[in-house]
Amino acid sequence: MGTELIRENDLVFLILDNRRRWMVQVTAGGQFHTHKGIIEFDDIIGKPFGSCVFSKPLESQGYKFYIFKPLPSDYILHMSRKTQIIYPEDAGLILLYTGIGPGSLVIEAGCGSGALTCILGNYVKPNGHIYSYDIREKSLKRAKKNVLRANLEEWITIKYGDILKDDFGHKNVDSIVLDMATPWEAIEKVKDYLKLSGTLASFSPTIEQVKKTTLALMNNNFYEVNTYELIKRKIQVKENATRPEVRMIGHSGYLTFGRKVEDRKNPYRGKKPQKNEIIDLEGMPLRG
Ligand SMILES: C[S@@+](CC[C@H](N)C(=O)[O-])C[C@H]1O[C@@H](n2cnc3c(N)ncnc32)[C@H](O)[C@@H]1O
Repeated sequence: MGTELIRENDLVFLILDNRRRWMVQVTAGGQFHTHKGIIEFDDIIGKPFGSCVFSKPLESQGYKFYIFKPLPSDYILHMSRKTQIIYPEDAGLILLYTGIGPGSLVIEAGCGSGALTCILGNYVKPNGHIYSYDIREKSLKRAKKNVLRANLEEWITIKYGDILKDDFGHKNVDSIVLDMATPWEAIEKVKDYLKLSGTLASFSPTIEQVKKTTLALMNNNFYEVNTYELIKRKIQVKENATRPEVRMIGHSGYLTFGRKVEDRKNPYRGKKPQKNEIIDLEGMPLRG
């Protein structure tokens, strides 16, 4: 694909500097007001993504803004939100470890602000679909708005639904993605929506949730049950001071994955007596 031109109603990612950046929809005749001047949308429409625009009035303001085509990570960090949203690196691992891609059929709960929903929606194009449920009217409203802004309504359905109680009637879905307080309570029900070898991903901020979810997955015929935590460090690059940035997000959450199998049990092998679980301290640093 060659250079893309900005069209009326496109979402653009407007960057002034490291801290000041906005996701805006460009409408004919419209304006975007910042404390560093006004951006006239008619100055943007028809220009290629990657170009720049100067804020008006040029004589008193004249700041340079760069105009980018939004990336999935820009949607996440700059969309309207109220609930805790998934960070781009976690969303990336969810995509790779669930195999969600073009044509995938996916169930998600809860949709929250729809940040993860939009990421997933981008990847199931052109013929997949995300069914995303939530029990909070406010979340549903916000998520629907974000999906519309991202022009993804063809691939995403946001609906009221309690993943713990309601029967959604889905069959043979490729993946289930859970980001809610009690994912372990949903496992028994949602496994029936999944096809064999289908994947489940659950995002939880605490280890207590991870443990309950892991046990629920193992008791409900999921295999390859693994949990990961990603820690991302941004590197500051300067002539004589190149190092990780001092401030960082220390913890976003844990990601637990599983793949559905027919049956975990083996009728030919008796259950071996359980060994006592021991805590192995080998290699641990000694206290001084
Ligand atoms: C942390 S937010 C999800 C954030 C979302 N992943 C995002 O990126 O914006 C958790 C959501 O789960 C919803 N939720 C909690 N229990 C639920 C249930 N039983 N069924 C459906 N949604 C539920 C909550 O209402 C809340 O909006």
